[in-house]
Amino acid sequence: MIGLAHPNRIGLRTSLMAAVAVGADEVAAAVIGEAARRGVAIDLVRNGSRGVFELEPFVEVETAAGRIGYARVAPGQIAALADAGLFEGQAAHPACIGRPEDLAFLKRQTRLTFARCGLIDPASINDYRAHGGWRGLDAALRLGPAAVVEAIKASGLRGRGGAGFPAGIKWSTVAAASGARKFVVCNADEGDSGTFADRMLMEGDPFLLIEGMIIAGIAVGAEKGYVFIRSEYPFAVRAMERAIAGAYAAGVLGSSTAGSRFRFDLEVRVGAGAYVCGEETALLESIEGKRGQVRAKPPLPAHVGLFGAPTLINNVLTLAAVPFILAEGAQAYADFGMGRSRGTMPIQLAGDIQNGGLFETAFGVTLGELVDDIGGGTLSGRPVRAVQVGGPLGAYFPRNLFDTPFDYEAFAARGGLIGHGGVVVFNDAVDLLQQARFALEFCAVESCGKCTPCRLGSTRGVEVMDRIAQGVRREANLALLEDLCETMKLGSLCALGGFTPYPVMSELTHFPEDFGLARQPQPAE
Ligand SMILES: Cc1cc2nc3c(=O)[nH]c(=O)nc-3n(C[C@H](O)[C@H](O)[C@H](O)COP(=O)(O)O)c2cc1C
Ligand code: SF4
Repeated sequence: MIGLAHPNRIGLRTSLMAAVAVGADEVAAAVIGEAARRGVAIDLVRNGSRGVFELEPFVEVETAAGRIGYARVAPGQIAALADAGLFEGQAAHPACIGRPEDLAFLKRQTRLTFARCGLIDPASINDYRAHGGWRGLDAALRLGPAAVVEAIKASGLRGRGGAGFPAGIKWSTVAAASGARKFVVCNADEGDSGTFADRMLMEGDPFLLIEGMIIAGIAVGAEKGYVFIRSEYPFAVRAMERAIAGAYAAGVLGSSTAGSRFRFDLEVRVGAGAYVCGEETALLESIEGKRGQVRAKPPLPAHVGLFGAPTLINNVLTLAAVPFILAEGAQAYADFGMGRSRGTMPIQLAGDIQNGGLFETAFGVTLGELVDDIGGGTLSGRPVRAVQVGGPLGAYFPRNLFDTPFDYEAFAARGGLIGHGGVVVFNDAVDLLQQARFALEFCAVESCGKCTPCRLGSTRGVEVMDRIAQGVRREANLALLEDLCETMKLGSLCALGGFTPYPVMSELTHFPEDFGLARQPQPAE
């Protein structure tokens, strides 16, 4: 908890952006109005969300004994809440849930990356420092570039944007590349269905991302960075721009980063709303002001990236994990996880699930634990039928695969991917043929059009799927679909076309009855 800025004033916090859609702005206005009516002096801070979305709009009052939380607060309730002691942090109201830290959903998490999210004022650089901010940067400046790269390698950190590529290898490739200038680009396009971790972090703890990017710049020899944020995230754009301005004012960004010999400049670029612009080379094209179309690789962006210069591209969560690694040591991060999946993963629970939100935990938790136990099953009360993990290109898992641990290799072994950590739960009303059609249609709509298997294959796939749904020459069309999927998998230039077959084939394999086929007995049934 943060001590009161003014001991004679009451500190109140309401969640910021993640809660706006459910009325956080109106609640904040009502709290301010009620305090004024009663002549109570308050400091109202709009912090980020703690990621327990079922509690939003969530109000926290700072008391000498810690924060006291009030859940699902409506503007019309504020007067009654004030009567019941809201401004004193008292509990005489059903909305009061006590100390947020005692909530099982939060207690069970291991928050390394999201440690401050929902706690601090995202607009205050002092609040960030008071909660351990910039310790990673201090360590990086002490260690120097080569040792920073070694620390990232030793931590086992892998890219959280989708592919799980080892961050240390990418960083050392950019560090070794020669070029008069280099860039660090943060991929904050976050297009995957059911994902919101990048947004939550940028809105709730933007200085953490700035710190991670400065450390990356020092490590690879880049003096300029860009954060590419999707246009659908206006609050994140605002939070990042405000934090960047604050970091310049404090001398953390600019010609002499934190008083050191290193320079690092940073700016935000806003995308124009295409899923494919999350693909790293299309993203670079977009920053360069061109149409977002995928570039053929090689050359890798690490060698020839933004404006032809060596470029380090990482996801928000990858870069945001870096300050912890530098501040606490690579081993402290590597101590969490399983196999080659080290550290923690901010998992996002969405769809028909009771406890939707952000759950950061060490790799190794099983899909079943996440959905049934932590997530509490479906919100609708209907049985869970399928779970899609890893965004629109991820596989659908049936219940008999719920023992799969959250681990890159374990998911790959079962035809799936972790991707950006999105878990979308479907109940027994789902029609998986229609979901397979949706995957192909999504690919057709979002295809950048550069290669034939994706551009044409996805559209033909939708047509084939429609014929299967209508029962037209079902066997022949299913064979055609499998053939088409194989072609897209092997012949596409990027993962949009190359991975669309994964949801489609997983649905066909695990839910054949939805395609008019006989169901084979499953091993665990
Ligand atoms: C179609 C498509 C969309 C993608 N969207 C994103 C995205 O929104 N965010 C992201 O970080 N990576 C996305 N990626 C992965 C990036 O190309 C790239 O691998 C990633 O930014 C690298 O960062 P990382 O190593 O930290 O994961 C996408 C890839 C594809 C093929
Ligand atoms: S797979 Fe699709 S999105 Fe990727 S390069 Fe080919 S056409 Fe573009």
